[in-house]
Amino acid sequence: MKIFSGSSNKPLAEKIAKSLNLNLSPCEIFIFPDGERRIRVLDKVLDDDVVIVQSTSPLPDKNYMELFFLVDAAKRAGAKNITVVVPYLGYQRQDHLFRIGEAVSLEVIAKTLEATGINKLIVFDLHSIKIRENFSIPVVHLTALSIFAQRIKELFKDYKDSVLISPDMGGIRRIKILSELLDNTPYAAIEKNRDLATGNIESSKFGTEDSGFVKNAKRALIVDDMISTGRTIVAAVDLIIKTGITENFVFATHPVFSNESKEILQNSKLSKVFVTDTIKIPENKKFEKLEVLSVAGEIAKNIKN
Ligand code: R5P
Repeated sequence: MKIFSGSSNKPLAEKIAKSLNLNLSPCEIFIFPDGERRIRVLDKVLDDDVVIVQSTSPLPDKNYMELFFLVDAAKRAGAKNITVVVPYLGYQRQDHLFRIGEAVSLEVIAKTLEATGINKLIVFDLHSIKIRENFSIPVVHLTALSIFAQRIKELFKDYKDSVLISPDMGGIRRIKILSELLDNTPYAAIEKNRDLATGNIESSKFGTEDSGFVKNAKRALIVDDMISTGRTIVAAVDLIIKTGITENFVFATHPVFSNESKEILQNSKLSKVFVTDTIKIPENKKFEKLEVLSVAGEIAKNIKN
């Protein structure tokens, strides 16, 4: 087996390779003065199983093109089977038509990825489980929830006195699973309304049956698939604090961290923010309250099977 990495998240690819007792195979990514890329695999892959790791995190367009070319290069060099690991799948939130006249970006991505000839796709914590239906090749959907559960148990011996909170109704499935992993820790969800044109969160309130759990809890553990601007999380914290809970922690898989997310999160009333390394966080986006947990072991385990 040969494992290659695009340029978006080499540290994660290196960790995955190490867990598999492999070294990353070399490839050449040459950038022309106009920004176009020329990709070349520099290891023999004829009749080999090939794994390509590339997160399609910011900047998604550049990272997708690099991924498509890497797959093509491996294919032309004779790779037998190509597994593509996309720890963060860019454009996944535009997975259906929200408003007349829009593109369904995820469908375009799915068609293009499949057209390159990949055999299998491994992804982490998709925004919605239905996203797999956009693909006809096998999609392995891994989750960081067991990694979060383990860290929560290490941090809080009295974790069952916490309440798990989903900052929107779309995340209910996620907190139910985490609740089971944490011996039925109570959970609650927030009803969030976002203005599609501006991206601003217009209102948020607890689901009708949920406020009771929240009031009696010692701390809130907010769980989400991703943090982009940080506005969803901060709106949730502001609401939770009104119930009297002062300890608020966030567990979110993908640190997309756009715009002023660093300032928004660092200056919020959050105690700590836990994310994973599905996306490489640039140094200038890191902040004191941040802790990064690795998904490399989970991915390696899956590649081995
Ligand atoms: C939305 O449904 C997602 O689950 C996240 O809550 C959202 O994408 C986070 O975005 P932001 O950090 O910009 O509020």
